[in-house]
Amino acid sequence: MHPVPNATEIEAAVRLLRAGRLVAFPTETVYGLGANALDPEAVARIYAVKGRPPTSPLIVHVASIEMAQSLVTSWPEVANQLARRFWPGPLTFVLEKQPTIPSIVTAGLGTVGLRVPAHPIALELIRAAGVPLAAPSANRFTQLSPTTADHVRRSLGSDVDLILDGGPCEVGIESTVLDLSVEPPHLLRPGMVHNETLVAVIGAVSLGSGSKTELLKSPGQLAKHYAPRAKLALWSWKNEPELKQQVLKSGVATSRIHIIAHTHIPSDAELGRISVIPHDAEAFGRAIYAELHACDDAGAELIVVEGLPKTDEWRAIEDRLNRAAA
Ligand code: TXA
Ligand code: MG
Repeated sequence: MHPVPNATEIEAAVRLLRAGRLVAFPTETVYGLGANALDPEAVARIYAVKGRPPTSPLIVHVASIEMAQSLVTSWPEVANQLARRFWPGPLTFVLEKQPTIPSIVTAGLGTVGLRVPAHPIALELIRAAGVPLAAPSANRFTQLSPTTADHVRRSLGSDVDLILDGGPCEVGIESTVLDLSVEPPHLLRPGMVHNETLVAVIGAVSLGSGSKTELLKSPGQLAKHYAPRAKLALWSWKNEPELKQQVLKSGVATSRIHIIAHTHIPSDAELGRISVIPHDAEAFGRAIYAELHACDDAGAELIVVEGLPKTDEWRAIEDRLNRAAA
């Protein structure tokens, strides 16, 4: 069992948040770097610590549908349907914001990203603080998101005032971001709440065009993002000799290559360090960031991830890995 924050730790976290300080907390997706969303100076601290450009809006975490409704100017019926089905959970709604949300939170946009995280510590923290918490993933800008408290500690160190340890994240990939301020709702970032599932609940969803305006609306869509230090490549191979060819062609010493496989598992240790994540999108999503962090720690120069199936349930993972490879 993982150490779980007790009442005293939550109290300490609340005191820090009220004083405008930063608290990293677990969610079901990745760890967040949290500040009081209604305090512009505290939010400015998030941008400073992350090294995040001020053009990149933050997600605001709330503990209930009512709390979300209090922060937006309109709450469409689709929001009701989706919240009932997916909240608490890894789905972020983008809606027109109330003026109570400082513009620094939304990078000057008239809309705000909102979600109720499915993690007891996150929910307890928001309730105890009594305010919504603005929180991006708790890593430096463009780097890999943290899925354990230790990842946060190693990325942000003493720049974060307190880290609540809630164990490894269950989902492991950042939330699906869906713009509900337009019709039909528009998918801004794929996540483990899949497009097909959304369509089944609300009928129609428009998909990312990847256009310039869209990039500005949702910078999580920037090409280089979610990246480990090592170079990352997605390769496919039918058999071991084929993989061996690609390894040779890369010119990287096999001692510095790390292969993450799920289906065609190599047996030859000469090819590099090999790890296996089950061929199951949920398990893969849960494990992949921790695996990439481990590759970096082991001094990998090249991380090879076995190509993924082109199906809906793998789309978010493929999106993150493509960005990490960019
Ligand atoms: O799972 C998650 O979403 C995690 C946990 C901590 O909740 N948070 C996270 O935050 O991934 P961050 O800041 O790394 O990514 C936020 C994403 C970005 O792609 C951003 O562009 C988009 O949400 N976003 C936030 N507010 C938006 C808005 N008003 N309009 C469009 N996109 C928005
Ligand atoms: Mg992030």
